[in-house]
Amino acid sequence: MRNIYLIGFMGAGKSTIARELAAQTGAKQIEMDQLIEEQQGMAITEIFAKYGEAHFRDMETELLKSFSREENIVVSCGGGSVLRDENTTIMKESGKIILLTASPETIYERVKDCTDRPILNGNMNVDFIRGLMEKRRERYESVADVTIATDGKSKEEICGEILRQIQV
Ligand code: S3P
Repeated sequence: MRNIYLIGFMGAGKSTIARELAAQTGAKQIEMDQLIEEQQGMAITEIFAKYGEAHFRDMETELLKSFSREENIVVSCGGGSVLRDENTTIMKESGKIILLTASPETIYERVKDCTDRPILNGNMNVDFIRGLMEKRRERYESVADVTIATDGKSKEEICGEILRQIQV
């Protein structure tokens, strides 16, 4: 199996599905945000505050470059990591890109109590989520090899759909 890159908005279920896919296929699960936090020794919110978003995006690119040399990994990508062409080129060349979608209401319910996403801090409401999702929608959809709507589905159903579609 080549790599699987799970993309989508914050709270779309990338981490949960990455864990499940890894368990079902024996692939290694990778959490981009977590790796960046470990490498930097600070939380994403601190990285944004101290160095700014552009610097965080550079870290995402560096990390993705290192993944392109690996095989058989399931990567839960940061929600904004697909915004750069360089990043999606790396993903395309080394695996399949799977987009997970959910309604703004579902996303809100999943993320409303979290404080570890700087982009949502101070903007924690359905309207903001809907607006940013709309801004990013075309980008997400155009880079995805497979799109899976997750509302109302179990993680087992979602994984089954993904594996069928990429024929692992
Ligand atoms: C971001 C998504 C977050 C994290 C950072 C920025 C974004 O990852 O990388 O807070 O721009 O959508 P998750 O999608 O894993 O929450």
